[in-house]
Amino acid sequence: MTKIKLGLIFGGRSGEHEVSLISARSIFDAIDKNKYNVSLIGIDKKGSWHLGEANNFWINPEDQKKVKLNLKNAPEITAVNKNEKVYLIDLKNGKNLSQIDVFFPITHGTFGEDGCLQGFLELLGAAYVGPGVLGSAVGMDKDFMKRIFREKGIATADYFALTKGETDKKKISKIIKTLGFPIFVKPANLGSSVGISKAKNGKGLKMAIDLAFQYDTKIILEEAIVGREIECSVLGNEKPIASQPGEIKLSSEFYSYAAKYIDGNASQPIPKAELPKKEMEQIQNLAIAVFKALGCEGMGRVDFFLTKNGKIYANEINTLPGFTAISMYPKMFAESGISYPKLLDKLVQLGLERKERNDKLKRDFAI
Ligand SMILES: Nc1ncnc2c1ncn2[C@@H]1O[C@H](COP(=O)(O)OP(=O)(O)O)[C@@H](O)[C@H]1O
Ligand SMILES: [Mg+2]
Repeated sequence: MTKIKLGLIFGGRSGEHEVSLISARSIFDAIDKNKYNVSLIGIDKKGSWHLGEANNFWINPEDQKKVKLNLKNAPEITAVNKNEKVYLIDLKNGKNLSQIDVFFPITHGTFGEDGCLQGFLELLGAAYVGPGVLGSAVGMDKDFMKRIFREKGIATADYFALTKGETDKKKISKIIKTLGFPIFVKPANLGSSVGISKAKNGKGLKMAIDLAFQYDTKIILEEAIVGREIECSVLGNEKPIASQPGEIKLSSEFYSYAAKYIDGNASQPIPKAELPKKEMEQIQNLAIAVFKALGCEGMGRVDFFLTKNGKIYANEINTLPGFTAISMYPKMFAESGISYPKLLDKLVQLGLERKERNDKLKRDFAI
């Protein structure tokens, strides 16, 4: 059997650089080396691509706070399309380093998960894992994502989007009147709870708005929902399936950056949520509805709030979710009977199938 030549892409110019390194390491460790020939493509924090070796590419691979890319002996590369095949090229001498059949980007956050990298891979004519340009971009922009939820009748917390010029007192007062305190303030395009605050009064709101604008030119102000945080993994192209839902149990005020990455006691991810069958199915169906509504393919983790009286609000989708051995996306599928290595096989297959399907589309109109 000829092996599939897989380009695993990780790191990148995002606040989630380190998580991405850990996700990639877990994928590399688990992937079946009899089936795949893996090229390790690390994007450094300045955006340069490097081809590394497994035995020395990661510094401190066990520690998310200290993990780093080792760029020594990892040549700078780029990817090019030659005669409909994709190659990694050494930037120093232009030599072909390897051919790639399919890329697996596990680049969380800005530039890697928001359609930018996906656009580059499309231009290359490459097969790749995860949603395409549109699904990635819409999934990243909380304003556009929620507009689509509204249009599809998917319940989501009420909100207003603001750009910098739109923060006059009158407008803000109207928003406070409509939403009531507390108000969640978020940069529109980010992740990992970076720049997010829960504002409890006018002064807090002003600070929260200033903070969010440090991270994005557009922010959202959102009604606070009181409820459990339930997550559900989705996998597939035209006919996606949903995993058993999981839950994030919190002992902090909300699932903040610190609760996610710093204070180990602040949150407890549970891959199998305790839910009545009816609610479980509702969440699975909604997760698929969200995934489809946002034009996603491949994978996505859909996050919800479930209130005491059973109302389900869609909060967001993560189109390249955390993929470490303990991350919720693979854990929820493991609970549903799809093991981590099997999940990798399916994701790669879905990427290859999408490319094959799209290549059959007519690109010209000849009479
Ligand atoms: N409308 C809301 N009501 C209650 N909690 C919220 C709301 N929006 C966000 N949160 C809290 O903040 C966390 C991060 O918000 P989220 O929109 O998921 O941003 P990110 O994309 O950075 O993960 C959520 O997991 C939740 O704990
Ligand atoms: Mg979130």
